[in-house]
Amino acid sequence: MTGNNTESIQKRDNQFLHPWEDIKHLGQNRRTVIAEGDGIYIRDSDGNQLLDGPAGMWCVNIGHRRQEMADAIAEQTMALSYVSPWSLTSSPAAELAEKLATLSPGDLNHVFYTTGGSTAVDSALRFVMFRNNVLGQPKKKHIISRNNAYHGSTFLAASASGKTRDKNFLDFNTELFHHISDPNMMAKPGSISENEYCAIKAQELEDKIKEIGSDKVAAFIAEPILASGGVIMAPQGYHAACLAVCRKHDVLYISDEVVTAFGRLGHFFASEAVFDVVPDIITCAKGITSGYLPLGAFLVSDKLLQSIETEDPNAVFSNGFTYSGHPVACAAALKNIEIMERESILENAREMAPYFQQKLATLLDIPIVADVRGIGLMACVECDINVKKDAHADVLKMDYAIGDRIDKHCQTLGLLVRPIINMCVMSPPLIINRHQIDELVEKLGKGIEMAMEDVKSEGLWQDPSDS
Ligand SMILES: Cc1ncc(COP(=O)(O)O)c(C=O)c1O
Repeated sequence: MTGNNTESIQKRDNQFLHPWEDIKHLGQNRRTVIAEGDGIYIRDSDGNQLLDGPAGMWCVNIGHRRQEMADAIAEQTMALSYVSPWSLTSSPAAELAEKLATLSPGDLNHVFYTTGGSTAVDSALRFVMFRNNVLGQPKKKHIISRNNAYHGSTFLAASASGKTRDKNFLDFNTELFHHISDPNMMAKPGSISENEYCAIKAQELEDKIKEIGSDKVAAFIAEPILASGGVIMAPQGYHAACLAVCRKHDVLYISDEVVTAFGRLGHFFASEAVFDVVPDIITCAKGITSGYLPLGAFLVSDKLLQSIETEDPNAVFSNGFTYSGHPVACAAALKNIEIMERESILENAREMAPYFQQKLATLLDIPIVADVRGIGLMACVECDINVKKDAHADVLKMDYAIGDRIDKHCQTLGLLVRPIINMCVMSPPLIINRHQIDELVEKLGKGIEMAMEDVKSEGLWQDPSDS
């Protein structure tokens, strides 16, 4: 494609209102146009190759341009492109439900299909409320979530989300949704142990349940790792401690695995394998098709379904989507899982994870890098131009948005970054190898140094070693 083409796509693209559209840039946006993908790389419309650092949006787990995926999608399209999920079904939807039941922990043996992560969370929350109506507990509807959580963009999912910046211009249900602090290890006071910190956080959940009343709290929802909140790492044992609190107070535990399921932490589901919890409900999306087609789901335990059946066998969960169990999306998910199993992609993620984290940790040598954290193949490099003492500290905010600058520099170096304010989130396709991890870290390091030089030359930051 020519530069002209790029420009014309960028111009026309201004009629596409993108997620988190910033109104002040309306009509002025010049987004990078991505034209192709292959393995862990993508290529923009001017032919520049970029390593796909965020794997799209934490989703292209098996990598781009898989012929087998294209074939499976084409075959299913030609066999049956759509069927209503109300009174009919299709073989891929049925087969995928059976497969997910075998991969999920405990007795989470039933699957409700949705169109993505937000609708998975929304449907899970509606299911919990539905169940309590059936059980004759209509007041037990309150949901507890955490600050900095991201659960999606539908009304209930957004109400469960806890990123304050996202709360400025929209409406949310504030009556039923409550937020407690996140379990950020970076905020742990130095004077207490990790165990003590964990106990404090679990206690906060228990206190919140007691404050609202356990007869009113329906569920606690938590991402295993707060992903879009900045890869926030909880203290060891946090989820198990929260689950114990939930069990004690008859509160359901929803594990939002939209990011962590399908290999990001080296397992199909991370809840039990990594965090030792068998939740009542798991939500998933993204990696379920490796982003080839939109699909989401929530998995629910037999126990919960039985409790509804026992109480009212005539109850109807009046919730669902035209595209619930879409046959082509389900065929893509089945092929995706088959590829993951056949190519031992989860094993690769587990094997590469320590190397990925160690290599990224070397970036701590760069003066503006304040923290590097992560688990599996998800990580966050947090920069801070304030913490290192600069000449203009008084006019700078802690969260100076250096992430965008780093991303821009990295793009010129051939690396795509997911910038979140002052953080760079990295979650590459799970097929990445050591050599490619070296490439990713080297380019990220250079990009951060280039951004550091910018802020230095603009007088926004001063290298402490220069003074
Ligand atoms: C943990 C979590 N839950 C839910 C969602 C919403 O998923 P979707 O964007 O597919 O609706 C996301 C999206 O990033 C997420 O990270």
